[in-house]
Amino acid sequence: MTGPTGPDDHVIVLFGATGDLAKRKLLPGLFHLATAGLLPDGYRIVGSTPHRSAMSDEAFRTLAHDAIAAFGRSKPSGPVWKTFEESLSFGAADPEDPGPLLAAVRTAEDSLGGPSRRLFHLAIPPSAFGSIVGMLGDTGLAENGKVIVEKPFGTDLVSARALNETIHAVFDESRVFRIDHFLGKESVENILALRFANGMFEPIWNRNHIDYVQIDVPETLGIEGRGHFYEGTGAFRDMVVTHLIQVLGIVAMEPPVSLAAKPLRDEKDKVFEALRPIGPEHVVRGQYEGYLDEPGVAADSQTETFTALRVELDNWRWAGVPFHLRSGKRLAQGRQVVTLGLREPPLRMFATDLADQEKYRGNKIVIDFGDPGWIATRFLAKEPGPAMRLEPVTMAFGYAGSYCEANGLEGYERLILDAMLGDQSLFTRSDGIEHIWAASTSLLENPPPIQTYAPGSWGPEPAISELIAPDLWHLPDAAEVVSGTGA
Ligand code: BG6
Repeated sequence: MTGPTGPDDHVIVLFGATGDLAKRKLLPGLFHLATAGLLPDGYRIVGSTPHRSAMSDEAFRTLAHDAIAAFGRSKPSGPVWKTFEESLSFGAADPEDPGPLLAAVRTAEDSLGGPSRRLFHLAIPPSAFGSIVGMLGDTGLAENGKVIVEKPFGTDLVSARALNETIHAVFDESRVFRIDHFLGKESVENILALRFANGMFEPIWNRNHIDYVQIDVPETLGIEGRGHFYEGTGAFRDMVVTHLIQVLGIVAMEPPVSLAAKPLRDEKDKVFEALRPIGPEHVVRGQYEGYLDEPGVAADSQTETFTALRVELDNWRWAGVPFHLRSGKRLAQGRQVVTLGLREPPLRMFATDLADQEKYRGNKIVIDFGDPGWIATRFLAKEPGPAMRLEPVTMAFGYAGSYCEANGLEGYERLILDAMLGDQSLFTRSDGIEHIWAASTSLLENPPPIQTYAPGSWGPEPAISELIAPDLWHLPDAAEVVSGTGA
């Protein structure tokens, strides 16, 4: 059945149903969609894993209950939980033995009154994407279905192309949803509103007025027991190729004709096409002290837990403007911030302290896209008193103080809903991901040596400062912004 604006009835198959992502994000997210009334009228959720981790429907319901109780915004109780719980079942599958999954999907569809739409979420290690997609094709399950593919999508250009071919042999591109949960964040989407709905920002959003752009996603978290996954991935593939460059796409894109999937993704992909090859000389790779002792990590591992890089876009709007990207584990703060530094006007008429020039490079637009997120502009104002003295001051908007947070959806929630609706606007297209890998080739073939850094620091110094000199890494404190003293 189709609701007036909601999705059609769906059977959602969650591959990797007992994994960390399913427990922390996907099951709690699906339940939050149910409590918000955003799931279809008829829905069933079938958990799946390889046979070696198979479980009963009952055990899967208990696992979902515990995961939602531990990580969900909506707690598992009341009539919505009862309906949700009854919708859950389990069907194990290996590519050579998909029987239990086929039976579980059939039962789920029968209980909805016949064949419905199917959504497959591949929350599994990237190495298993190909074989599971092949199985969906061979068994006929892929018919009437869409697939959500987790990141990282490939490990380089060759593997991403091969994966695109494997997937396209079963699902045409209109049914492929390459997910990047950063694009589902309210405050990342709000960058589109900030830029394109306001006459005061877009006219200065280009190389004539912007000096540099910084996209900074430090994390205090370590690898959280994911040594095995992380060893084969590292910070560049885990965070940069995916999240940071996707945010860069939104920050740097040209205005799309509309926000429909095609024009929006056309403009975002043009940014990726304009990425200059990322030269190893513009990259710092770090590894926190103690990483080698983590379970699942090789004693001589060269995997980076930190990366900082300087990238450029070869296009009309951004030629010559450096984009500074940084992300790493076990750093001093957990933040998600875009900063746009504006070119300085001449300040000759004002008495400035020449020893503190950085203070007067004051014009910045700062977008904190960590949930719930805030936006601030920093500019210079006259300090009260008889003398004309300049001081940096801040104007700020915060989501938390301005809107009811409960109305918002988390990244995964928003994106799973969009996938059910068939809206691909916030998902990555095959050519987009291939352009990003193409720009990364020389770095991946020739990575600079690892430098260690102390947990709780900002990464390997002096390398990260030298990388972007004379610019600086800026991370205003949220408290300072709210109190009007920073940004
Ligand atoms: C994931 C990465 O995609 O994003 C993790 O695999 C990272 O390493 C996480 O910690 C950050 O996302 P969020 O939404 O938890 O800040």
